[in-house]
Amino acid sequence: MRLLITGGAGFIASNYIRHVLSAHPEYHVVNLDKLTYAGNLENLRDIEASERYTFIRGDICDRELLEGIEFDAIIHFAAESHVDRSILDARPFLETNIMGTNNLLEIARQRECTLLHISTDEVYGSTAEGFFNEDSPLMPNSPYAASKASSDLLVRSYIETHNIRAMITRCSNNYGPYQFPEKLIPLVISNAAGRKPIPVYGDGMNVRDWIHVSDHCRAVDAVFHKGSAGEVYNIGSRNEMPNIEIVKLILETVAERLGLEDGALMDLITYVDDRKGHDRRYAIDPAKIERETGWKPETAFKEGITGTIEWYLAHEEWWQRIVSGEYMNYYNVQYGERLKN
Ligand code: NAD
Ligand code: DAU
Repeated sequence: MRLLITGGAGFIASNYIRHVLSAHPEYHVVNLDKLTYAGNLENLRDIEASERYTFIRGDICDRELLEGIEFDAIIHFAAESHVDRSILDARPFLETNIMGTNNLLEIARQRECTLLHISTDEVYGSTAEGFFNEDSPLMPNSPYAASKASSDLLVRSYIETHNIRAMITRCSNNYGPYQFPEKLIPLVISNAAGRKPIPVYGDGMNVRDWIHVSDHCRAVDAVFHKGSAGEVYNIGSRNEMPNIEIVKLILETVAERLGLEDGALMDLITYVDDRKGHDRRYAIDPAKIERETGWKPETAFKEGITGTIEWYLAHEEWWQRIVSGEYMNYYNVQYGERLKN
């Protein structure tokens, strides 16, 4: 199996590539990534020399490039993924998330190969009570979520119209190693370590359903191998928490790990203006994937967040190189000049 993984230099797909190479010794992974600001080849340092791994720098919007790549199936992670950036400028979200996905669908149609599309729970919008299941209406509230809902619906349309073999997953908020430190959890850990203010949007009571990235990777693998063609699968961990509770838990743990007094870092909490259109609550019902594939989340939040905090504290050089922008030079050194973004 020659697997095309798009966006493999990002947070989730770099974890997934590592998972595939170790779980499936007969697979070859082709990682196609544009290397936007969010793409970091340092995430893959430990596997880049593998004979079962090929990196191609390129844009999923480049149809000609896609036509020249050999593969048997596609797992499509590449996206502009940060809600705050989509509020500032939606255009790259529409280009990559919609037009890029359409290119991949066209290739999957031509080659009659399987495409697994990585969507998100944000396509459902916000809910005050109950849980999103796969039949819940799509009600996206940010330009990011709207672009992901568009690509999600495009995949559906290619299944219905062109009879392609595709599946869709919609996962809740991930955390774990190699997450770009503009997202809540790595931002709080790195700012706490550097004694910088922690911006909490609004009243801090927005709720997200957090899942460890390793559980998400196993779920993607389960859907790819055991899921039914044409189906949508929600992925979640039944672990809802308000943001402020997570922020406080991280600050307590970091203080403890750094040998500081209890509460020593709490003053870093800084309430700031709310995100525009801020979704209040996401909550996923993952019963279908559990029932149909036997997948279950394995990482309890307390254990997962402690391990994640320890990982960031032990890998300060990794995130400091992002903060300083030096990570961008890694591609130049290894492969040539990096795309401007
Ligand atoms: P990320 O921002 O960390 O990584 C995205 C990767 O895609 C980067 O390496 C980037 O360089 C690459 N990329 C962007 N535009 C590209 C293009 N035009 N062509 C090729 N590569 C391009 O994202 P992530 O958090 O790892 O999310 C991965 C996927 O999972 C996304 O589709 C996202 O919508 C989805 N998702 C994320 C979460 C989460 O909590 N992070 C939850 C559910 C679903
Ligand atoms: O639910 C899945 C989605 O989770 C994915 O589709 C997105 O790609 C991913 O980025 C994530 O979106 P969120 O907007 O939920 O994640 P983020 O880490 O940006 O924010 C989490 C919560 O924390 C959200 O309620 C906003 C809040 N927040 C975020 C940041 C960056 C803060 O209060 N302060 C911050 O500085």
